[in-house]
Amino acid sequence: MVRILFCLTLIQGVSMKIVRMTMLSLLLLMVALPTYAAGRLTLYCSPQIGWCELMVNEFEKRTGINVRMTRKSSGETLAQIRAEKSNPKGDVWWGGTGDPHLQAAEEGLTQAYTSSKFGELNDWAKAPHKATGGKTVGIYMGGLGFGFNTELLAKKNLPEPKCWKDLLHTAYKGEIQMANPNTSGTAYTTLATMVQLFGEDGGFDYMKSLHRNINQYTKSGSAPIKSAARGENTIGIVFMHDAVTQGVKGMPIQTVAPCEGTGYEIGSMSIIKGARNLDSAKKWVDFALTADVQSMAGSVKAYQVPSNKNATVPKEAPDVSSIKLIDYDHARYGSKSVRSGLLAKWDRDVKPLPR
Ligand code: G6P
Repeated sequence: MVRILFCLTLIQGVSMKIVRMTMLSLLLLMVALPTYAAGRLTLYCSPQIGWCELMVNEFEKRTGINVRMTRKSSGETLAQIRAEKSNPKGDVWWGGTGDPHLQAAEEGLTQAYTSSKFGELNDWAKAPHKATGGKTVGIYMGGLGFGFNTELLAKKNLPEPKCWKDLLHTAYKGEIQMANPNTSGTAYTTLATMVQLFGEDGGFDYMKSLHRNINQYTKSGSAPIKSAARGENTIGIVFMHDAVTQGVKGMPIQTVAPCEGTGYEIGSMSIIKGARNLDSAKKWVDFALTADVQSMAGSVKAYQVPSNKNATVPKEAPDVSSIKLIDYDHARYGSKSVRSGLLAKWDRDVKPLPR
């Protein structure tokens, strides 16, 4: 009898425990529900990782939307979005050079959206939107150039390079680094800039001569100046703002605006076609075009020129009005046929040459 009573008490205890646990789970679910209901976003991010992280944190704070972000270079991201075409996994592609965003639009990989902030943008940021029927829009701008490690240059007794042509000097053999134009938007901008400065034959002759001085083609565009800052490389061909970042960090890096003039990027953003979280994607676009959000870039040493006219241009940003910018033909060099053609030619005629 005592044993039966003991068993009954035990069963009662266990079922009370189950009831309590079920109630607790329900409560937790109710607390968690608003966060889930606020939505999700899968972001492909192509600028510097510090800026990607700042943007994600700020967006989550303002909207409650949960962001899954991965950072990949511009050309790599285009390849990924293309590979995922039949089953898109990303919602928004934020940043990176504009050329592959234009190509993505032409290939039908991205979709149109016009943000309520569109009217606040500079004309150069509106241009890609107009050219693609709204599939991509400018978020920042930056001029191409190079930077060098002043201490290494002095130690090796090398002259200070001032022009693109200077980089072809035999004295710089093994001293220069740039990224691979297939993966990196920075490096594709370099290739397209040389073709526009010197003509297609002249541009490829330039890339072939430069190749002899290159010690490594990196995957990411800003890597060459980071390795120069660490003293592992002397000269890096990068966007000037990326070289400035290293100088501001206290590294012995000098930034150069090449004497012949130079190309520039319109860093862009696109919503991926078939985005699973379209509402969140549109909210991201509105957010990323907002003046005070763009003004935060300087706090993580991102010194591009922002696209919103009301955003603060970081005082460290290279002054594009004093740099000789070429009339870079973004539509042409972002078209599928021209971009793919130049890359194939570089793979065939430049990359395999001996160094
Ligand atoms: C750096 C620059 C950006 C540029 C990006 C392109 O992050 O600061 O302005 O858009 O490089 O990256 P990628 O690796 O494709 O050259």
